Amino acid sequence: MIKVMSIFGTRPEAIKMAPLVKKLEAEDGIDSVLCVTAQHREMLDQVLELFSLTPQHDLDLMKRGQTLEEITTRVLLSVGDILNAEKPDLVLVHGDTTTTFSAALAAFYKQIPVGHVEAGLRTGDRYSPFPEEMNRLLTSRLATLHFAATDGNVANLLSENVPSTFIYKTGNTVIDALLSVVREDYIFDNPLLNQLDFKNKRILSMTAHRRENLGAPMAQIFTAVRRIADDFEDVEIVFPVHLNPVVREAAAKYLGNHSRIHLIEPLEYEPFANLLGKSYFILSDSGGIQEEAPALGKPVVVLRTETERPEAVEAGTVVVAGVEAQNIYNICRELLTDADHYKKMAEAVNPYGDGKSCECIVEAIKNWYKTEDK
Ligand code: UD1
Ligand code: UDP
Repeated sequence: MIKVMSIFGTRPEAIKMAPLVKKLEAEDGIDSVLCVTAQHREMLDQVLELFSLTPQHDLDLMKRGQTLEEITTRVLLSVGDILNAEKPDLVLVHGDTTTTFSAALAAFYKQIPVGHVEAGLRTGDRYSPFPEEMNRLLTSRLATLHFAATDGNVANLLSENVPSTFIYKTGNTVIDALLSVVREDYIFDNPLLNQLDFKNKRILSMTAHRRENLGAPMAQIFTAVRRIADDFEDVEIVFPVHLNPVVREAAAKYLGNHSRIHLIEPLEYEPFANLLGKSYFILSDSGGIQEEAPALGKPVVVLRTETERPEAVEAGTVVVAGVEAQNIYNICRELLTDADHYKKMAEAVNPYGDGKSCECIVEAIKNWYKTEDK
């Protein structure tokens, strides 16, 4: 039996690791152990419940307004203790959060190999996204196995001298997760979402949470969004607001008290993914949404100055709008007034995989383990 311990802590990691953990649990020859740091609490629990995942270890680390130093050290210490107790053959981490980097470092200190899911994303700017770009770089240095979604991600790793034998092109597990929840005939539980007139109105969905956008950039973003709602009467905007208190304060200040802007609680993944599928277009600084929206044929206005997902930009579904109000407004206005432009951006393409990514990763793990000199 190969003992594989998956470790994650935030909403996006949970969404993208859930189908993989399910697959590992069902696999003969693999003893799957799940450890959640709970760097996020409520937003993590929403995903665990949806996918019926029961962690063997829940470190319950989240504190309101936590700093990077606090969360980094708490994860490092607590994961170290769990690794001492469980002694897995392989630790799996995902993406670029503080849980990702710190859990990988904890495993390295115990000389346990690390598999990095969603490896090889890069913007080339160590401060953007912050601290995610550095988390990715450091996790690549610490990992033994690298599961990369696209050719571009593979090329990034090769250019940093990661050995090619340990890089596996697998697609992104987000597509596996997305395909398991989006349905044409989906009906929301949420009364507000059910009342929205998706046929006659243009419903825009938005999210915003990046640390480098907190403060002045977020004020610019929200100013642009309010102007869009003011200027286009057939537009309604749905914003499930991230639980970060800084984001919530800014959202209430700039976007509150508008009859066509709906500030709601974070949605569970199933309704959120179906909301994306029914929206006219999406405004977001999220990473995962830049992968989901192309698969659903929905344009995304990226509320950032860069992206580590150039495939979606090349495919034409994603446009990087920056964080200046006038530019964001202009890009949205074009999408709302130029039908041909909208149509070009709304072609469904899927640069991120065919929904079989988890299968690929499990096979790679088994093959790697066979060749290990035990
Ligand atoms: C984290 C990740 C980021 C990822 C994002 C996904 C780091 C440094 N950042 O950012 O890479 O894109 O998650 O959403 O790893 N909170 C709650 N309940 C929750 C979740 C958050 O109350 O379920 C509040 C807490 O006050 C918490 C704060 O939000 O302290 C910030 O959470 P944190 O995980 O530190 O940062 P995020 O901005 O969520
Ligand atoms: N998401 C969700 N509910 C919401 C908002 C987002 O389930 O209310 C999902 C979204 O579909 C995507 C993931 O959460 O899969 C993105 O998470 P987030 O934006 O927090 O992080 P990022 O992708 O930027 O790391």
